[in-house]
Amino acid sequence: MNGNGYSHHPTSIGILACELYIPSLYVEQSALETYDKVSKGKYTIGLGQQRIAICSDHEDICSLCLTVLSRLLEQTGVHPQQIGRLDVGTETLVDKAKSIKTVLMQLFTEHGNTAVEGVDSINACYGGTAAIFNAIHWIESSYWDGRYAVVVMGDIAVYAKGNARPTGGAGACALLIGPNAPIVFEPGCRSTYMTNVYDFYKPDLSSPYPVVDGQLSVQCYTSALDTCYAQYCLKAEMNGESRSKTSSAAADNINLSTFAGIVFHTPYVKLTQKSFSRLYFNDILRACSYIPNALVEKYKDFDIHSSANDKDLERDLIEQSRELFGQKTLPGLYFSQNMGNMYTPSLYYSLFSFLSSQPSEEQFYGQRILLFSYGSGLASSMYSIICRKVHDTRFTLGEIQKSIKRARQELDNERIELAPELMDKLLLEREKHDHQASFIPSQPSEVLKPGNMYLKSVDKNYRRVYEKFHGDENSSTNKKATVQQLYSEYFQTRQINGDTHG
Ligand code: ACO
Repeated sequence: MNGNGYSHHPTSIGILACELYIPSLYVEQSALETYDKVSKGKYTIGLGQQRIAICSDHEDICSLCLTVLSRLLEQTGVHPQQIGRLDVGTETLVDKAKSIKTVLMQLFTEHGNTAVEGVDSINACYGGTAAIFNAIHWIESSYWDGRYAVVVMGDIAVYAKGNARPTGGAGACALLIGPNAPIVFEPGCRSTYMTNVYDFYKPDLSSPYPVVDGQLSVQCYTSALDTCYAQYCLKAEMNGESRSKTSSAAADNINLSTFAGIVFHTPYVKLTQKSFSRLYFNDILRACSYIPNALVEKYKDFDIHSSANDKDLERDLIEQSRELFGQKTLPGLYFSQNMGNMYTPSLYYSLFSFLSSQPSEEQFYGQRILLFSYGSGLASSMYSIICRKVHDTRFTLGEIQKSIKRARQELDNERIELAPELMDKLLLEREKHDHQASFIPSQPSEVLKPGNMYLKSVDKNYRRVYEKFHGDENSSTNKKATVQQLYSEYFQTRQINGDTHG
């Protein structure tokens, strides 16, 4: 029994509720192709991206995280006193010592709760997954006091000008974690692959941009995927075998057909299609029962490791697995395709996109979904969740679907398009202001949404102040027409005053 008298073993630990952040601004990837003078289709077909989300100077990583966390508390009605752990995953650092978690504590201390464990987890796009694992382990441990855990993850993903820039994006989400959940982390089913590589890293602490070897990062992602999948299948089969000893059910052969959905960390959509076909190739080499015999025969002499750079093989596998990809992964790509790489929350936006792809929650009951998390440097894990009907709780899959649909509504109808040249100028300002003291955001405040938290100021001692925006909900049609114009005028004035290097 722990200090608070919880002697029972919590079961069905998982996601009870979620909130997603949608930045107000975006750029069309097709417009970016023209602006960057690359061949038509490079970003939209070659990378599979439609739009890229952009943040204004009123938004920083803390304002994104504060917004989703305060919305999660409001929407669920969970009192801040009921939270015993808060983990944050990010790679967008505003401070080398003070965690974002401590900034989020303002939402708890004002309600008299200072007993909240957890700090930040950092490793490129993997920090959100590490944060989730921490939350699960706390609830499973002797230190659990019966309260909920929350995981917040977010990033403003920006690249220096060049071929990686179209793979940027931004997003944040907050997850309420606890027992008796409608989305359960499957016990025992997890594999991990970590090693030391320099594929993407941020050694220049004064710059928001990573140093990135793009092609190497894709190779590393692929080897991590192969290794995690092989290990996951082995572990999940062993789990099935040990269960079958008590239940007399036969151990399942784990393969892609086991899962209703397969979701990936998504730097860009095309990589997930290649990744799906790669898992399919693993299943071909394992001669899984759902694979046509002709394919097993065709590839029986191939080796998983030496085939990684074989473009003909890649093309064939994409074709062979296209239909399955359309069923199991494509429904999870809506947010990523329209927002870009969000780093830590990218995988979880894919999960939520998948979970909103069917109109009713019943369609997901009993379904398993496989998740692959990758963070450069590198850290990667594969694990699975199972969806279920829950009793005696307000935290249902239907409620989760409602919050995802609210985010989709914002994504589809409430965003404002910016021209690519304005994005460039905006990013130049971010480079300059990211670690500036003192600083007061001065870009058009019309991008702010009522209820969202925003950065009000940074004082000369680098202390950041955030406030909730209480402005009126303007008519969105008028707003869309004016914001682009306001940004053009804003940058013209900055140029005249010599305030930008744009
Ligand atoms: N029409 C259609 N397709 C096109 C066109 C066109 N006009 N032009 C190019 N393409 C295709 C290419 O053939 C290529 O396809 P392939 O991947 O099947 O070979 C694809 O578009 C991309 O083109 P490349 O020339 O390979 O792109 P480039 O090297 O310029 O950049 C990269 C791509 C490496 C992904 C870059 O954007 C990058 O570095 N991004 C950041 C790193 C990254 O996201 N890594 C992934 C894992 S780590 C992480 O999440 C951060």
